[in-house]
Amino acid sequence: MNSSDQLSPDIVEMVQQPLEQLGVRDVTAVSSLFSNIENRLQSELLAMETLASDFRRSPARPGALPVTSGRDVATALETLRVRWLGRKQGIIRSITDNWLAPAPSELKREIGQRVNGLRKEAEDRISQIFLGPEGEVAPTIETADFVKAGVIPAPAAALGTDRALDITLPGNRRPIGARHPIRRAFEEITDIFLSLGYSVEEGPEIESVYYNFEALNIPEDHPSREDQDTFYIDANTLLRTHTSPVQIRTMERQKPPVRIIVPGRVYRRDAPDATHSPMFHQVEGLAVDTGITFADLKGTLDHFMKAFFGSEVRTRFRPSFFPFTEPSAEVDISCIFCGGKAEGCRICKQSGWIELMGCGMVDPALFAYVHYDASQLSGFAFGMGVERLAMLKYGVEDIQLFFQGDIRFLHQFR
Ligand code: PHE
Repeated sequence: MNSSDQLSPDIVEMVQQPLEQLGVRDVTAVSSLFSNIENRLQSELLAMETLASDFRRSPARPGALPVTSGRDVATALETLRVRWLGRKQGIIRSITDNWLAPAPSELKREIGQRVNGLRKEAEDRISQIFLGPEGEVAPTIETADFVKAGVIPAPAAALGTDRALDITLPGNRRPIGARHPIRRAFEEITDIFLSLGYSVEEGPEIESVYYNFEALNIPEDHPSREDQDTFYIDANTLLRTHTSPVQIRTMERQKPPVRIIVPGRVYRRDAPDATHSPMFHQVEGLAVDTGITFADLKGTLDHFMKAFFGSEVRTRFRPSFFPFTEPSAEVDISCIFCGGKAEGCRICKQSGWIELMGCGMVDPALFAYVHYDASQLSGFAFGMGVERLAMLKYGVEDIQLFFQGDIRFLHQFR
């Protein structure tokens, strides 16, 4: 009996036994043990290569004997793979666990090198059999047969692309998402102001009465302070009703000059309808420096409107009132639907103008709260509703659509 025959009946069983028990105690013995295993691997690989290339040369040739199906080849190959490379019980795994791991240090190097050699040889040759020889044009083992037989996982089958993958099968669909239109409006607005040298600030959505009202000069009896208009958490805490508190927070933190915009979510106790939502988005703006005038405010917002809606829009400033700006104004743009005709249209309610946001010069009373020198500084502020801008620009007729998560709506913004 030669040594390879000794091994052949039960190489799998042998690799379960400790080297000691096999009488292998020195490098020479290790080396000859591995030579036997290597021979065994070689002959099994050769047999498999022959089977596969015979099949490739004449797959299921009618009348040929024996008829080997692609599935038979695939099963044989997978059996061979699991026998040598199987992760739990494979021969190479067992050698690693039972021989290499407990080996005395003087044998480790030899065992390690030899088992690595075995692994590499088995991996290379088995995948080569699976793929077929390079450049081969003859019919090959159908990859689909490997997959159908359940012996080759689908991703491995994809390795056989050039010869065996059915490219007419539908691929895995990965639906492409879209940015939410509110997010997109935020980005468009932010980009315009970034290019003017503004930076972006944020503040808390749960805000104190002090920042939301008091430091903004909003008096006790102002209607926006009432319970029916504001979500209170307790007497001193609420969901902010606007992004203006971030004006105060920023000025408290940094010295002038200030040029910021503040995108964010705000909350009001409004019943939902086509133009109201208890949660919506605003972008606040604040510029404070020496020598800032109302002309700067007008120029900035006129530029913004043209950049956002198109260079043909005109702006109009109408006197208004906010407790934290003086003087204050509402900004209108010429109607983007009728072009601002004198007779107007349905959307601009026959006026030719569309009201868009509030603004004004920072009331010097605010500077006192943040210890800015009101005799040296001036500034302007503005606040816009993002839903309103987005509805006009993207032609959305109901504010609720932004918050219902209907994919058919959202897909339109790709
Ligand atoms: N905060 C105001 C609002 O929510 C908008 C505004 C901001 C007005 C800044 C003037 C200046 O209605």
